[in-house]
Amino acid sequence: MVLEIARRFLLVPMIASNVATPTLTSRLVNGLLSIKPLFNWAKGQARTLMIKRAADIGVDWFGRVQALMAQDLATELAAIENPELVYPDYYLRPFHAYDAGNLSWEAATEVEVAAYAVHARIWPDAGPQGDPRLRQSYHQVLQARIPTPPQRILDLGCSVGMSTFALQDLYPEAEVLGLDLSPYFLAIGNIRAKEQQRQVQWIHAPAESSGLPTASLDLVSACLLFHELPQSAARQILTEARRLLKPGGYFALMDMNPASPVYAQMSPAILTLLKSTEPYLDQYFSLDMAETLEQAGFENITLQPNTPRHRVVVAQAC
Ligand SMILES: C[S@@+](CC[C@H](N)C(=O)[O-])C[C@H]1O[C@@H](n2cnc3c(N)ncnc32)[C@H](O)[C@@H]1O
Repeated sequence: MVLEIARRFLLVPMIASNVATPTLTSRLVNGLLSIKPLFNWAKGQARTLMIKRAADIGVDWFGRVQALMAQDLATELAAIENPELVYPDYYLRPFHAYDAGNLSWEAATEVEVAAYAVHARIWPDAGPQGDPRLRQSYHQVLQARIPTPPQRILDLGCSVGMSTFALQDLYPEAEVLGLDLSPYFLAIGNIRAKEQQRQVQWIHAPAESSGLPTASLDLVSACLLFHELPQSAARQILTEARRLLKPGGYFALMDMNPASPVYAQMSPAILTLLKSTEPYLDQYFSLDMAETLEQAGFENITLQPNTPRHRVVVAQAC
């Protein structure tokens, strides 16, 4: 019965909703997702949709996952994992339709193919080029804002290295570090780095307390990290980024744009599927990023759209 009501609700097409300031629709979506069987159903639908979209753009989801699963994953994990690390509670929730969130081989081996599927429709003609085009559009803003190529770069929330490798290609002379809370993601990142003969220093740590020295970096980049964070973590991470940067160094983030009409006009169906996989979306959308950056000790803050639904925020350490 509950599932039937949800199914009917989800079939209502294109009722305007606003994720930044929760409307009746948005509150209804949150209410539905608080019902466990509905939540499970929605995240199952979200996953099925993603696998289908990957097939539509010619990405071999299961083939690529199997190839990674065939590697010596246990050895890779042991080499990268910090066994002392205590995970923040917010990180231990289900994410992206995985019960174990980001702490599993399933999530780690699927994250790259999922990124191709999710980004395929940013532009109507994008297909498999959506993901690289998204990163290029971020880098164009970086190049316009940062006059001198950074020498030492930290990629916060680097996952399996897609954003890390893209930054390395943009700044080939730089030393690039990739930090993430998931040792599974970092292990896959290391396998991919070896395949591509790349040098990356991987760090298994929370972005809130990286353990890196003060004033040691020219650029701290966070690509698609902040929509996964509660506001308290976002604030702590910006403070940590300010500590790590040399005076005049740059912090940059690229993520969903709360001001994009795409989200304001999203149908309840899609909004429900999105929220079932992204538990902190409301908190991200309602955080005043410019104000939070200022409070953390940044200046020269710019926010600009780089795709129909993403934005780039750049700020300089005072
Ligand atoms: C959506 S992924 C972004 C992946 C990558 N940067 C990219 O552009 O493809 C977000 C990543 O942030 C990581 N993450 C989330 N909270 C974190 C935290 N507090 N500290 C470090 N990493 C975190 C997750 O494990 C995940 O790998």
